[in-house]
Amino acid sequence: MITVSDVSLSFGGQVLFKNVDLKFSEGNCYGVIGANGAGKSTFLKILNGELEPSTGTVSMPKDKRMSVLKQDHFAFDEYTVLDTVIMGNKRLYDIMQEKDALYAKEDFSEEDGERAGALESEFAELNGWEAEADASKLIQGLGLDEGILYSQMSGLSGNEKVKVLLAQALFGSPDVILLDEPTNHLDIDAIRWLEDFLQEYFGTVIVVSHDRHFLNNVCTHIVDIDYTKIKMYVGNYEFWYESSQMMQRLMKQQNKKTEEKLKELQEFVSRFSANKSKSKQATARRKLIEKVSVEEMPASSRKYPFIGFDMDREPGKDIVQVDGISKTVDG
Ligand SMILES: Nc1ncnc2c1ncn2[C@@H]1O[C@H](COP(=O)(O)OP(=O)(O)OP(=O)(O)O)[C@@H](O)[C@H]1O
Ligand SMILES: [Mg+2]
Repeated sequence: MITVSDVSLSFGGQVLFKNVDLKFSEGNCYGVIGANGAGKSTFLKILNGELEPSTGTVSMPKDKRMSVLKQDHFAFDEYTVLDTVIMGNKRLYDIMQEKDALYAKEDFSEEDGERAGALESEFAELNGWEAEADASKLIQGLGLDEGILYSQMSGLSGNEKVKVLLAQALFGSPDVILLDEPTNHLDIDAIRWLEDFLQEYFGTVIVVSHDRHFLNNVCTHIVDIDYTKIKMYVGNYEFWYESSQMMQRLMKQQNKKTEEKLKELQEFVSRFSANKSKSKQATARRKLIEKVSVEEMPASSRKYPFIGFDMDREPGKDIVQVDGISKTVDG
């Protein structure tokens, strides 16, 4: 659905990511994660064409439609909620506007009639007749009253606007949905509703979130931005977290072993290099030292909170012992 080829991006000398090659497919939900400032929002902007990468390309089939969760809470102040939601499908909204203008004309010509006919058929193809009902379903799903559809956006509270903008991004069955932190300012019922919606979604969903619970419930893949690389993993957040922790542990263990070996070799060399009978062996080992390398572990830009409990004493072998227990209910 979306192919990212050799994408790199730098801001004034600071490399955010380089040589990124990724494929996003239909029916999958990708959770984009990374430390604050790692470049998650920037990566989404590259995917939707708002930002040009320094190198590489992003491509999507021409007949596919992408929807983006808008971040500007004031951009639609002069519109009604219904119009704002329908604007999620720009083409449909434009058709409706043009149709209205045509039908309002006093000198409606034959040419206008033909144009109106063409617009009507495209309108029907885009499910225009269902638009209001669909918008209402989304609005109500997010916990707003149906009546709000006819209110002006400028009169809404911040939290209501967030929901309307989310409904806009989900409206009209887009092939790809990009959401940057959609659960911010959402109440728990709306988050659960969004999780259900995304789990069932036929298209490609790419979502940035710091909410692990949400990511676990919706993601089929994790896209991790770290060390200026972007890597994709199959599975939800928990699976990614466990496996990446295990990799770090394995690398540490491996490095510890290598370091021990190095120390042993160095000791041998310093002890025996002066000793004639052993000097050949010492030279061989010195050469070996040059070959052994300690794998450099890149410093992660992440900071994980850590809570640990130290045991005061080792527990005994028998933690709990149960003998001859019975329970009877109603005789
Ligand atoms: N237009 C820009 N010009 C210069 N630097 C920028 C620009 N936009 C973003 N940056 C920098 O790029 C880095 C990545 O920013 P971005 O907003 O993509 O991070 P993020 O991963 O979304 O962070 P957060 O989790 O806080 O939302 C930051 O250091 C930011 O200051
Ligand atoms: Mg961001």
